Amino acid sequence: MKAIILAGGSGTRLYPVTIPTNKHFLPIYNKPMIYYPLSLVMLLGIRDVLFIVNPEDINDFKKLFKDGSHLGMNIQYQIQEKPNGLAEGLILAEDFIRNDNICYMLGDNVFFGHDLVKIMADAKNEIEENGGAYVFGYYVKDPERFGIVEFDEHGNVKSIEEKPEKPKSNYAVVGMYFYDNKAVEIAKKVKPSDRGELEITSVNEEYLKKGKLKVKLLGRGFAWFDAGTHDSFLEAGEFVATIEKKTGLMIGCIEEIAYNNGWITKEQLLNLAKPLKKTDYGRYLTELAKEL
Ligand code: G1P
Repeated sequence: MKAIILAGGSGTRLYPVTIPTNKHFLPIYNKPMIYYPLSLVMLLGIRDVLFIVNPEDINDFKKLFKDGSHLGMNIQYQIQEKPNGLAEGLILAEDFIRNDNICYMLGDNVFFGHDLVKIMADAKNEIEENGGAYVFGYYVKDPERFGIVEFDEHGNVKSIEEKPEKPKSNYAVVGMYFYDNKAVEIAKKVKPSDRGELEITSVNEEYLKKGKLKVKLLGRGFAWFDAGTHDSFLEAGEFVATIEKKTGLMIGCIEEIAYNNGWITKEQLLNLAKPLKKTDYGRYLTELAKEL
């Protein structure tokens, strides 16, 4: 399985902050927003990652992640000329994906919860064994903002709608999707929505029609933030700060995960820590190298 992380978009909901910079570089507490989805992909053991980025931001992304080899990864970049929607990301990634299955993550989504990685690994295994699409629902109080999934009395998925005016449930589809290879062809057939975008929800609807969409609910023990607005951005940062200060353990620390995965050596970890030595982040990495 390969991963695609969508990190384009105009970020207008964070204006004026995102006029001069891309939202994915903004700090969720002590690290760029984009580290959080990347860290989850790494925890799944996926080393091949494609970032979908805006033309004006590609060099900044390359500055941050290079070719990924310092993390023991293969990181590539694909330009999305205009924010034409999430489903377009799948089309743009066609050459990168080839015959593989896909883990598709949104660059502004932050997740936290016990057994999260196990739940993601179950989704990955399901797609690898049986194909189809596998997404996650999360109870929210503002369902108009999201893709919303409706269930019948037996818990089967009945419908899935993008930003409905009259939501049929409170279950939002979060920005983490697992697809078989067919997703690219499905995305190519999607027509633009009223807001002029190729919606990922249309891709999911197509899988639903084929009886190939699985939706797993993330319960109350999970935290999920779509950090694309001023409030949710701040909430996500406060959440991460609270947990990290309490436990002394970092959330979304990509260097730590690369090291724990055995993708980089202790020396490499210490080298990555060097430029960060004035920060708690750098000290954390140095301590890690001492521990094991
Ligand atoms: C996108 C998707 C939506 C999903 C949300 C999760 O919304 O279109 O279905 O629920 O991400 O963050 P957007 O960020 O484009 O408003």
